[in-house]
Amino acid sequence: MPGPSENDPSPGGEQYFTASPGAASRPGSVPLTVDGATFDLTTDRGVFSGERIDPGTRVLLDVLPHFDGLPEGALVDVGCGYGPIALTLAARHPGRQVVAVDVNERARELCASNARLARLAVDVHAPDDVPDDLRVAAVVSNPPIRVGKAVLHELLAFWLDRLVDGGEAWLVVHQHLGAGSLADWLGEQGWAVEKVKSKKGYRILRVRHT
Ligand SMILES: C[S@@+](CC[C@H](N)C(=O)[O-])C[C@H]1O[C@@H](n2cnc3c(N)ncnc32)[C@H](O)[C@@H]1O
Repeated sequence: MPGPSENDPSPGGEQYFTASPGAASRPGSVPLTVDGATFDLTTDRGVFSGERIDPGTRVLLDVLPHFDGLPEGALVDVGCGYGPIALTLAARHPGRQVVAVDVNERARELCASNARLARLAVDVHAPDDVPDDLRVAAVVSNPPIRVGKAVLHELLAFWLDRLVDGGEAWLVVHQHLGAGSLADWLGEQGWAVEKVKSKKGYRILRVRHT
């Protein structure tokens, strides 16, 4: 039985969150199903879960609510990889701005071209290029646990602090990779954290202002 894929080294032994992956390109393709429609997403070496849609990401996408009721603002996929979350958000919410952010240049290029081919509107940015005045209604993320706790906390604090009043974040974290302690930490920072679902060891956390 496959374990959490965050534990798998990426091909070539390089971390997937490298800014410019050195692993030689070897494109692949994985199907992404969104409410009955299938998009073939191009993946590559040096990006997260290039062999299949990450099972944690799949659990997250399957429990996400429709965001119609949220205040005005963008839906942001923090750590977009080749784009399964961002493209799902764009397909489900054509009226909203969808923003995808990643440190990994190869991931950003794949996400942008996958969105283009699927005819979905996704604004892809490097972290430093995100407009300062972006209003964020929702953060949806399979966050980069392997960057380490300090960097992860800084990343989440940065994005959660940008949520508008009434906005929310949806996160997937495997129980063996610290879902419980992350939920505790978020609570200590003053966020309301709801454990919405637990499946195959993945925990889905809904995070809101208290
Ligand atoms: C667990 S992967 C999820 C990828 C994709 N969302 C998916 O579900 O397949 C986390 C992603 O976060 C990216 N990442 C790491 N540090 C980051 C940062 N500081 N800002 C934005 N993205 C980051 C990694 O490059 C990686 O693509």
